[in-house]
Amino acid sequence: MTEVVVMVGLPGSGKSTWVRDHLAATHEVVSKDHWPNARRREHRQRRVLHELLSEGRDVVVDNTNPSPEERAPIIAVAREHGAAVRAVHLDVPVEICLTRNERRQGRARVPVVAIMAARGRLVPPSPAEGFDRVDTVRPGR
Ligand SMILES: Nc1ncnc2c1ncn2[C@@H]1O[C@H](COP(=O)(O)OP(=O)(O)OP(=O)(O)O)[C@@H](O)[C@H]1O
Ligand SMILES: [Mg+2]
Repeated sequence: MTEVVVMVGLPGSGKSTWVRDHLAATHEVVSKDHWPNARRREHRQRRVLHELLSEGRDVVVDNTNPSPEERAPIIAVAREHGAAVRAVHLDVPVEICLTRNERRQGRARVPVVAIMAARGRLVPPSPAEGFDRVDTVRPGR
């Protein structure tokens, strides 16, 4: 069965690293970060997701996806294609995210306010949203 994985976590929590280590070989990576300057990135992401699922590919959506509002449209597209949907929540304390972010260079480093804003909006993913499975990843394991 085709699968859509929805990453959830603050900037610096390690989502892209986790994707590289666990899903890069099997899943197509979709991220709004791939088009930093595009207008209507949300719309574009949904279209790309549609295209990949039409081709039968497994997909991982690598954004912060902090709240049900961001996740609902992804879940809806997955359902349209009859795909299974899994959330992977990088549950990492904000202090660790801030420290890791400080060590990043250049454009990879995000403004501290972006981390704090995401923290304020973050709602842990739940099966009630429509996920078939929710995995939680914590640091140090
Ligand atoms: N498990 C880990 N232990 C230590 N450092 C890590 C771990 N995972 C990621 N890092 C480091 O933390 C930084 C942030 O990781 P990463 O880019 O994967 O985060 P992200 O959640 O994708 O952030 P963003 O939302 O900004 O894209 C990187 O410098 C990475 O090398
Ligand atoms: Mg990332």
